[in-house]
Amino acid sequence: MRIGVLTGGGDCPGLNAVIRAVTKSLLRQAGAQVLGIEDGFAGLMAPSPRVRELHWDAVSGILMQGGTILGTSNKANPLATPEATAQTLANAQRLGLDALVVIGGDGSMAIAHGLSRHGLPIVGVPKTIDNDIVGCERSFGFDTAVATVTEALERIQTTGQSHSRVMIVETMGRYAGWIALEAGIAGAADVILLPEIDYDIEAVARVCRERERRERYTVICVGEGAKPIGGALTVERRLADSPDPIRLGGVAHALREQLQPLLHSEVRATVLGHVQRGGSPTPFDRVLATQFGNQAAQLVMAGRHDRMVTLQQGQLGCIALADVAHQHRSVPLDHPLLQTARQIGVALGEP
Ligand code: F6P
Repeated sequence: MRIGVLTGGGDCPGLNAVIRAVTKSLLRQAGAQVLGIEDGFAGLMAPSPRVRELHWDAVSGILMQGGTILGTSNKANPLATPEATAQTLANAQRLGLDALVVIGGDGSMAIAHGLSRHGLPIVGVPKTIDNDIVGCERSFGFDTAVATVTEALERIQTTGQSHSRVMIVETMGRYAGWIALEAGIAGAADVILLPEIDYDIEAVARVCRERERRERYTVICVGEGAKPIGGALTVERRLADSPDPIRLGGVAHALREQLQPLLHSEVRATVLGHVQRGGSPTPFDRVLATQFGNQAAQLVMAGRHDRMVTLQQGQLGCIALADVAHQHRSVPLDHPLLQTARQIGVALGEP
């Protein structure tokens, strides 16, 4: 049995832990040959595919490493043209792949499903710090990102307090507010703004003014996809402005410009950016990524293709790739953490 493994889309802490678990599981249980495909789908669709064999030693000692030893690509799409699809399928055949494990986000899962429909057996592993993949209540990388943002918020607290400022911290998360919500609570933010709840700038200013009188400083944690009521400052605006799907930094600075004229305190904006994706995974993410990798290997060995590994109600399982592709999982408006935030007095920017 010869199995390919690739990592697609943005990197994420825990990718190497998945590569390690998939490989070790397939080597140990199936005596398979595992080929690591370099640079995501770009490596598979290149005229000469870029691959290297993953022996036991090649994946030893990588559990705690950030990034991906295989490299990744954001843009490569084997479904973009019929020629690219044909080249990709021909390469997979030339490499003798019996199946391919694709570790990636919603975009990679859509490509994986498309290639599956062309006859390439694929198992997907959900990957994102954003925690927004359908069918997966917790994706690896999320816990690490939340820990990173929480630490940043703690640091922002002390400088904000010293200068009596309003401090805005922008997190990643695309169209979902999971990172901002969990890190905002863990890092004691006073205001948490999410893509799921359009914020009322007057309500945000009111909280800051109240705190100007009492605590004298305010920390606002805002997800990069958040936008004001009736506004389109953020993801949509950046989509229109840029060939790239998302550009970071728009929200925090726009919010600062909106808020500053309404307040006495100085307002400062910090965009955490890609620091949230880097570094070593937390123990939680190492365990989850190992479970996901092993589960992918089990699906491959059982011949259960065109499926993605899932975690639902704490149980590992799988879901059809067709049910995942091109979708994302937002924070539901009745999520208990939103209620907790409101009840302990964290403002969500609601009027
Ligand atoms: O989806 C993961 C993510 O890190 C988002 O949170 C963020 O908007 C995006 O990727 C950034 O992508 P890029 O690395 O292309 O700037």
